[in-house]
Amino acid sequence: MLTELPQTYFRAIEKISRLLTEGEEFKTTMYSILVRLARQTGMKRGMISLYRRDLEEIHVDITYGIPKRESPIYYRLGEGITGQVVVSGRPVAIPRLDKEPLFLDRSGARREIDRSTLAFICVPIKYAGETVGALSVDRAAKGENLKSEVSFLEIIANMLAPRVHARRIQEENVKLREAIDRHGPLGTIVGNAKSMRLVAEQINQVADSQSTVLITGETGTGKGLIAEEIHYRSRHRDEPLVRLNCGAIPENLVESELFGHQKGAFTGAVEQRIGKFEMAGKGTIFLDEIGELPLASQVKLLRVLEDREFERIGGGKTIRTEARVIAATNRELEKEVADGRFRSDLYYRLSVFPIHLPPLRERGADIILLADYFVQRLGEKLGKKITRIDSSALDLLISYHWPGNVRELQNCLERAALLTTDGIIHGYLLPPSLQAGGGESPADSADSFQRMVQAYESTLIIEALKKVKGNQTKAAKVLGTTKRIIQYKISRYNIDYRKYSGIRVS
Ligand SMILES: Nc1ncnc2c1ncn2[C@@H]1O[C@H](COP(=O)(O)OP(=O)(O)OP(=O)(O)O)[C@@H](O)[C@H]1O
Ligand SMILES: [Mg+2]
Repeated sequence: MLTELPQTYFRAIEKISRLLTEGEEFKTTMYSILVRLARQTGMKRGMISLYRRDLEEIHVDITYGIPKRESPIYYRLGEGITGQVVVSGRPVAIPRLDKEPLFLDRSGARREIDRSTLAFICVPIKYAGETVGALSVDRAAKGENLKSEVSFLEIIANMLAPRVHARRIQEENVKLREAIDRHGPLGTIVGNAKSMRLVAEQINQVADSQSTVLITGETGTGKGLIAEEIHYRSRHRDEPLVRLNCGAIPENLVESELFGHQKGAFTGAVEQRIGKFEMAGKGTIFLDEIGELPLASQVKLLRVLEDREFERIGGGKTIRTEARVIAATNRELEKEVADGRFRSDLYYRLSVFPIHLPPLRERGADIILLADYFVQRLGEKLGKKITRIDSSALDLLISYHWPGNVRELQNCLERAALLTTDGIIHGYLLPPSLQAGGGESPADSADSFQRMVQAYESTLIIEALKKVKGNQTKAAKVLGTTKRIIQYKISRYNIDYRKYSGIRVS
């Protein structure tokens, strides 16, 4: 049957097989192939689609002869001809498009065209027995039998299959990674302290309701993380989560950010703009640093919380909102209220469901739990194998008072993970503020240098002692020094060498 086809079709096969081995990027290669099909086989328009298993949708990935569109073209399984081809795994050929009611023309490319002049062929792209996508083309209708054209396109589809398969996996992974980045690797809020278990319980209670939530806690305690967790556990998780940091925008623009404005509402309002409440739709609006909200705007926010209504700045119709409000602050709002900086009515309205995050220094062993968690994640991020946190580092982590809370812990470990050369987080890799212990005023630099050197020495000696099961002579040898010096340092740093006599080295 193929022999009925013109010579140019065979030249197209030759050229396409070469394009596939040129090692160009997927989009470039596929587009060049469609160009080839147009030039040598009279194809007018062409599309290569991927079947995304994770979304159960067919995405048009590469097009030729179809005007560029803002939004991507996709079909659900079974929808339109492409959808049917993917479900059935069998080609479809339509000699005259005007006779085919199933043809959707999702791309809109044929809206202005007399469809009676067009024929359409769609073939599945199969790899390892599975349909991974579809190749579709249209060409001038000549009223002939399309069988040989179908066979030809099946050959092309087979040639494309391995690349389309690889592309699909790549796309699915991107999606997966995005989800992981958004939710954390396990959607994890690490914590086992009693106070944190209470927080987890509160999240469970409130997530699926529409209640306003107020999250309080010092800086870096995880308020942002908790807000996200509540949103992603709510029934509106697929709607937007929109964040506004009330402290980060000038006072006179806060209201426009929240509620939007009409064109000309104030100097600089050259366009009409929608605010965060409208953006959030039925999702969540997260008002971070709510304590910074100017008093004048507090009244307006109160009205939205009570009546679920607002207007854009500069007038216009009243807009209803269904967005859920989560607010957070590291200020003590009660004190702000007492001092007249925060409206008491808004405070009561916001604190329908308060969640308080304790400072890290009050979470006991959670410090270690979090440290292990961060070290593991950082190792993956840096592509480095980090095996453990040594005892000197653990001591420092536990005794520090963590004014910057979880964020500070994360930063400290990031620095140490970058610096380590042996995959171990040593005490001397932690910043000087921790070495000073207890976190008194920062020591002068000469002093802290001295302390770091001592911490380093002490760690080296402990590590050596572990290796030689507490034998001081051998430890001295390992470190290339004398037993006298080792003994001196051991007593100076208060190291209990007998402790290591029973430890087996792994
Ligand atoms: N319990 C936790 N488990 C895992 N990661 C956490 C935890 N708490 C906080 N983090 C991480 O610590 C960092 C700081 O948390 P977050 O930004 O949520 O703090 P915050 O309270 O909003 O701080 P700020 O008041 O400065 O805005 C983030 O990277 C967050 O993912
Ligand atoms: Mg925050």
